[in-house]
Amino acid sequence: MIIATNWKAYVESLEKAKKLVSVAKRLAGSTEHDFIIAPPTVFLGLLAEKNNSKLAFAVQDISTISGGAQTGEVTAGSAREAGATYAIVGHSERRARGETNSEISQKLERALAQGLSPILCVGERSRDDNGGYLSFLREEISSAFEPLSQKERIKILIAYEPVWAIGKTSSESITTADLTEMILYIRKALSEFLPGRGSLRTKILYGGSVEPDNIRVLAEGSGVDGFLIGHSAVEPDSFKALVGAVSV
Ligand code: PGA
Repeated sequence: MIIATNWKAYVESLEKAKKLVSVAKRLAGSTEHDFIIAPPTVFLGLLAEKNNSKLAFAVQDISTISGGAQTGEVTAGSAREAGATYAIVGHSERRARGETNSEISQKLERALAQGLSPILCVGERSRDDNGGYLSFLREEISSAFEPLSQKERIKILIAYEPVWAIGKTSSESITTADLTEMILYIRKALSEFLPGRGSLRTKILYGGSVEPDNIRVLAEGSGVDGFLIGHSAVEPDSFKALVGAVSV
């Protein structure tokens, strides 16, 4: 599985950041999983190591611009230089601050141009009885994939993160049955852009209140390729418990 952790702004101390990285390194060495850490951007260059094939780093967001007179922007190129090999794009917490599908599309192009693998976050804000949330999700996927070439599309990982399930507790997270259905739906939507077996190769992660007590049940039988985990991955003990729950 891919265990990606999104530290958001939870981790503000470098000491704690280093501790979490050392835990991740140990887990990467002792399990079959591949780990991705998305620390706050200012810590990226201080933490990222380029030579560990089972522990990679992601930038939490990148700019739509590629450089120049743009105070405060984090470009894909600078993130790559700092050690990122992945870029989270379109996280709902960025969308909530006004990020649009068209900006997300630009960010994907910036990331890909710098050799970063995008982790594209998609997910409905709420559910309705008429399946409106499915069309919403399809639109997020189409607007991101349509402008890209086949070669670029294949490099994208999807993180399905229903907004209603983020930052809650495991009891309010998605059920395995619903997750299974959504993975199938996403693969079907992807097949329009990645014909043949292409859409089966795309890695689909789930995020939204993944905790030590639900990670296993969500992993089993749902067809998910891994997780993007926020709050429960920013304390060493709960991070270890999460990974332990899906390791033999
Ligand atoms: P959460 O966040 O695990 O705290 O729900 C997941 C995410 O937003 O990526």
